[in-house]
Amino acid sequence: MDALKLNMNANKPVLTAETFVKLRDFIDTKCGIHFADNKKYLLEKRLLKRIEQKNLKTYEDYLCYLTYDKGKDVEMRLLYNSISTNETSFFRDPVQLDVFRRGVLPAMIEAKKARGEKSFRIWSAASSTGEEPLTLAMILMEEGLHTLGWTIDIIGSDISEGVLSMAAKGEYENYAVRNTSQTILQKYFTKIGNLYKIKPEVSKFVKYKNINLLNATDTRMVRQRDIVFCRNVLIYFTDATKKKVVNNIYDSLAPGGCLFVGFSESLHNITRLYKPVSIKNSVVYNKM
Ligand SMILES: C[S@@+](CC[C@H](N)C(=O)[O-])C[C@H]1O[C@@H](n2cnc3c(N)ncnc32)[C@H](O)[C@@H]1O
Repeated sequence: MDALKLNMNANKPVLTAETFVKLRDFIDTKCGIHFADNKKYLLEKRLLKRIEQKNLKTYEDYLCYLTYDKGKDVEMRLLYNSISTNETSFFRDPVQLDVFRRGVLPAMIEAKKARGEKSFRIWSAASSTGEEPLTLAMILMEEGLHTLGWTIDIIGSDISEGVLSMAAKGEYENYAVRNTSQTILQKYFTKIGNLYKIKPEVSKFVKYKNINLLNATDTRMVRQRDIVFCRNVLIYFTDATKKKVVNNIYDSLAPGGCLFVGFSESLHNITRLYKPVSIKNSVVYNKM
């Protein structure tokens, strides 16, 4: 048995330090996901399946494929599926959501009413399997916006097609709803076997798009957002990439709009475009 394992390992491609740096820099330029020097093992593991599926022999061959092959665009998309970390859940970081609901939303609604506007536009930028944009839709519904004749328009976007197609299905396991109250579960989900399916009256407010946050041509598709949630993705980027991404988001915000980043993320020393405002231990970044 051990001899068999050894033999299998003997044929396994090995990521050399030199190729690691080349691949890491290539990936960084394309999508910003950065593998630090101590994460070589992780990149090696995440790309192994792709290399095997393409019947390639080395990581260097894979980099050549990504650079020159006619199938490189398709492979790039499969690469994004393999290297992204998609952890998320409904009602994640409830303190921040409470700041959105009670600290930001009421003033925005009043300002819109004063201008005679009745639409609310949100962008969940890096929405993974959809839990975040759907949570935001449910919060707006709980506030009754839809029953008062408001238009709710939420975009959920991600670079990984794998998670976007799961989001489109709208079916979730127990783990995804672990922070969701029974009241909300009963109101907005249908239980099908072991799964919770989001009801169409919620999902109709959310449209999914494939958007690379580093690509200004992509982000320009999203306009005039009142709120952008870009949570738990900046941690994977270098400071230079964070700066590009939050500058791109800035252009997608409506005047008076604001940005939420993850609880453990900060734009300190990254950009001066936004005015940070502290509300109940959370920082909200206002468009200036
Ligand atoms: C950890 S999830 C965060 C999900 C959700 N925002 C939350 O906080 O629960 C990070 C997501 O960012 C996406 N992502 C990584 N790089 C990206 C990029 N350059 N453009 C768009 N999405 C990206 C990943 O595919 C992944 O689904």
